[in-house]
Amino acid sequence: MEKTSFLIAAVVLLVLNHSIFSSAITNLTTDQSALLSFKSYITLDPYNVLADNWSTSTSVCNWVGITCGVLLQRVTSLILSNMSLTGSLSPHLGNLSFLSSLDISFNDFHGQIPDESSHLHRLKRVNFEYSNFTGDLNSYSWFGNLPELQYFILYNNGFRGTIGSSLCNISNLEALYLGHNYLQGSIPDEIGKLSNLKILNLESNQITGSIPSAMFFNMSSLQSIALT
Ligand SMILES: *[C@@H]1O[C@H](CO)[C@@H](O)[C@H](O)[C@H]1NC(C)=O
Ligand SMILES: *[C@@H]1O[C@H](CO)[C@@H](O)[C@H](O)[C@H]1NC(C)=O
Ligand SMILES: *[C@@H]1O[C@H](CO)[C@@H](O)[C@H](O)[C@H]1NC(C)=O
Ligand SMILES: *[C@@H]1O[C@H](CO)[C@@H](O)[C@H](O)[C@H]1NC(C)=O
Ligand SMILES: *[C@@H]1O[C@H](CO)[C@@H](O)[C@H](O)[C@H]1NC(C)=O
Ligand SMILES: *[C@@H]1O[C@H](CO)[C@@H](O)[C@H](O)[C@H]1NC(C)=O
Ligand SMILES: *[C@@H]1O[C@H](CO)[C@@H](O)[C@H](O)[C@H]1NC(C)=O
Repeated sequence: MEKTSFLIAAVVLLVLNHSIFSSAITNLTTDQSALLSFKSYITLDPYNVLADNWSTSTSVCNWVGITCGVLLQRVTSLILSNMSLTGSLSPHLGNLSFLSSLDISFNDFHGQIPDESSHLHRLKRVNFEYSNFTGDLNSYSWFGNLPELQYFILYNNGFRGTIGSSLCNISNLEALYLGHNYLQGSIPDEIGKLSNLKILNLESNQITGSIPSAMFFNMSSLQSIALT
């Protein structure tokens, strides 16, 4: 009996040790270099929002737009909405492994969303509204692997392609705004898998076909649909 508990304790220690070891690999310094890289991809910052404020002489947790966790000092949110920023997204953004909220809406961010962002498994809220992001929505199949995502706002961008089935994999999704893009094709039947969805906005695209019956029968949480 004692031997067994000793063994269990040893295994628990090993596992703990391993996770302590791996969290030592990434820390607030990792977040800092990710954010400095994010800053370096911004080509225009007319009000010097980041230029003056995102300084290495102070902790990233004090930087404008940044919130850190209370217990674990890691960056949990990056909110830089409506700050007249122009630029693209750094692949190093994907190193902010504790990020749960990302809002860079109402700026002029353009280009593709780097695939490295697929590492951001803790994302709950993503708002890219009124940006200039482009690319075929189907080439972003990793969106379907963001299991915590609840609010996903891609409204008013330059996305092409079809809605695809990967978005229908995000089972926690409550709000999906894809309006004002260049999407084509029909609404996939798999949309019915989004049983928690409350808001679906697809307006001002070139979406055709019929409305899947699963939308009426499977999505009991739906409160608002925009298809104009
Ligand atoms: C983060 O880890 C690196 C080495 O892995 C270390 O040099 C650095 O001091 C650590 N930073 C913090 C804020 O703990
Ligand atoms: C950066 O902005 C934050 C929030 O507005 C402010 O509290 C902080 O003092 C600023 N830091 C510097 C170095 O300007
Ligand atoms: C953006 O900021 C400007 C100036 O502060 C303000 O007038 C405008 O209403 C804001 N827009 C949004 C969408 O928040
Ligand atoms: C951060 O991300 C870049 C690009 O994905 C990668 O090359 C680099 O090794 C990462 N750095 C850390 C400290 O994880
Ligand atoms: C997107 O780019 C176009 C052309 O460069 C520009 O006119 C427009 O203002 C940009 N939109 C946003 C939301 O920044
Ligand atoms: C949906 O998720 C399942 C497992 O959770 C995965 O096997 C499948 O490839 C995903 N489909 C898409 C289209 O992302
Ligand atoms: C909708 O619900 C029905 C009955 O529960 C089920 O058979 C069907 O597979 C669901 N469809 C989708 C697209 O989830």
